Amino acid sequence: MQPIISVTNLSKTYKSGFSALKGVDLSIRRGEIFALLGPNGAGKTTLISIICGLVNPSSGQVLADGHDIVTDYRAARAKIGLVPQELTTDAFETVWSTVNFSRGLFGKRRDPALVEQVLKDLTLWDKRDTQIRMLSGGMKRRVLIAKALAHEPQILFLDEPTAGVDVELRQDMWKLVRGLQERGVTIILTTHYIEEAEEMADRIGVISKGEIILVEEKAELMRKLGRKQLTLSLQEPLASVPPVLASYDLALEAEGNELVYTYDTKAERTGITALLQDLSQANIRFKDLHTSQSSLEDIFVSLVRDRR
Ligand SMILES: Nc1ncnc2c1ncn2[C@@H]1O[C@H](COP(=O)(O)OP(=O)(O)OP(=O)(O)O)[C@@H](O)[C@H]1O
Ligand SMILES: [Mg+2]
Repeated sequence: MQPIISVTNLSKTYKSGFSALKGVDLSIRRGEIFALLGPNGAGKTTLISIICGLVNPSSGQVLADGHDIVTDYRAARAKIGLVPQELTTDAFETVWSTVNFSRGLFGKRRDPALVEQVLKDLTLWDKRDTQIRMLSGGMKRRVLIAKALAHEPQILFLDEPTAGVDVELRQDMWKLVRGLQERGVTIILTTHYIEEAEEMADRIGVISKGEIILVEEKAELMRKLGRKQLTLSLQEPLASVPPVLASYDLALEAEGNELVYTYDTKAERTGITALLQDLSQANIRFKDLHTSQSSLEDIFVSLVRDRR
């Protein structure tokens, strides 16, 4: 199937001379939830802003549902809803009028029933006649989402939708995003909350210093890069790993009180049985043990660190 968004060799150099995107290629599949991860300043907002037509690319091409975002801007933009990172709203308008206005901007005919539903989904219905400046920060963020949904976009960008919102709103947002996906909307989100990507995304892209360094199915990423660790709490601390155990990937932690064995989850054998036998032979006793698996966060941190 043709991707719903295809970005080809996209570069952006800001007037300051700063090169924020360097030859980015990216395809977004129809109907997926794609999480774009990257440290501050990596180029996430720049990339989203170009796709949404708010920033001009320096070179390269972007197609949104087949429409070129430069030469066929209106058609491309009509497909897209954007929840921006920065809170920018018309302070003196009411919730109701600002959301209806957003719909009108895309040349869509008025549809009060639809706007009512969007406001209800976002628990904003009670606030419909309130001026935006009277809302709390989290409610303002909900208004931004309502505005982005008002013209029924097929593609929704959420640039850090849950930065600084409470747990309840975050969970509401996740529910909302899943509901949109069920209705066929493609969702691209950026986030600094790795657990959000872990929870929501079908695929994950990592961007660092203006370059996409990885795009992968979430499940595959976790499987490929996931390492498991077995931690043994020793009865007696060790000064060093005994030479007889040199063939294992072992590290001493907690001042010699813990022996940590790292193994590959894909490998046919974990080596745990042999390790435990060898430990016993070497007269090393332990009082407790547990295993842990590297999280997406560990994977992400090591990917980005390796590029520094
Ligand atoms: N208008 C601009 N003029 C010059 N440089 C800019 C401009 N906008 C962004 N940049 C620079 O481009 C780089 C990428 O910024 P961008 O906002 O895309 O990062 P980001 O990945 O969204 O970061 P964050 O996680 O902090 O939101 C940064 O170094 C930023 O300073
Ligand atoms: Mg940003």
